[in-house]
Amino acid sequence: KVPSIHHFYEDSFPVGVAVEPEQLEGIEGRIVDKHYNSIVAENVMKPISLQPEEGKFNWGPADKIVEFAEKNHMDLRFHTLVWHNQVPDWFFKDKDGNEMVDETDPKQREKNKKLLLKRLETHIKKVVKRYRDEVDAWDVVNEVIDPYASNDRGLRESKWYQITGTDYIKVAFETTRKYAGEDAKLYINDYNTNESPKREYLYDLVKEMLDQGVPIDGVGHQTHINVAWPSVESIRESIELFSSLGLDNQITELDMSVYPYPPSGEYKSYEEIPQEILDLQGQRYQEIFDLFEEMDDQISNVTLWGVADDKTWLDDRFNDQEVPGKDAPMPFDPNYNVKPAYWGIVDLL
Ligand code: XIL
Repeated sequence: KVPSIHHFYEDSFPVGVAVEPEQLEGIEGRIVDKHYNSIVAENVMKPISLQPEEGKFNWGPADKIVEFAEKNHMDLRFHTLVWHNQVPDWFFKDKDGNEMVDETDPKQREKNKKLLLKRLETHIKKVVKRYRDEVDAWDVVNEVIDPYASNDRGLRESKWYQITGTDYIKVAFETTRKYAGEDAKLYINDYNTNESPKREYLYDLVKEMLDQGVPIDGVGHQTHINVAWPSVESIRESIELFSSLGLDNQITELDMSVYPYPPSGEYKSYEEIPQEILDLQGQRYQEIFDLFEEMDDQISNVTLWGVADDKTWLDDRFNDQEVPGKDAPMPFDPNYNVKPAYWGIVDLL
């Protein structure tokens, strides 16, 4: 018997986990129920899953997660209303089936923009109305900053941006507020929010939006990190930076790769990962959770991006290797046993 993670942080913040509906049964379901008091869908609440075809909504898998959250008295994070990935193509095609981004006629471009924003509103309205009573935090837009973009504001040049400029961000927040209500908590979510110049680009965008009255409540820091990067200090600085705008912070997708960047995938199974790396990972988790706890007046949720090391999105990076590498970013090993990362999180290392 091992102590429950969320009990340990009871006085600070809920601790959450990302899941697929299939993981809510058996041993994984028991881990989720025991160790976490907040939950998020790893995939099934993304636009491609919820509205694969225009007007045809697929609620089943998402509903399962909502029901589990209710039954087990967990908080629910919604991920995500807007993203440039996992969004179906139909959003960006005009009535004749042409790609909106290819349009050159200014009049038709204006029409396309209207149509896309209308579709966005409809998507948000339908989804928010269905889940508003259960959701505690909404990822309204995801990954809209790209420090390598060719514009000087670090705005990701997604189809959303190419067709609407930054209007899609405004419309997304305004529509979510409209249907979710004044008490709803609305987040702008991104990765590498600790890194310059990305965090400054994000800061400038959020500040501009707030000045225009766009209803943003907080920043979601994905926090996909590794055993060598980043420094705990840079995470602290970023939280403080966004707090200075009067915003809340959530840690939304925490995981810690055993590989420094770029990941080599040199360990071909969990057993091949050196013990000292797993120990180092445990220490890093401990330091980072110490920081979160210390800053608990500025952080209202900490969520891990997966249950155990048997299934992690980070392994997808090795799909093209002859013998695919194995990563191990979570507190539970591939057999669902606790590992140093777990002991670090519960401060017992
Ligand atoms: C990832 C999922 O974990 C994968 O299963 C899926 O194939 C791709 O998306 N940032 C995000 C998440 O905001 O939605 C991503 O989730 C991981 C990176």
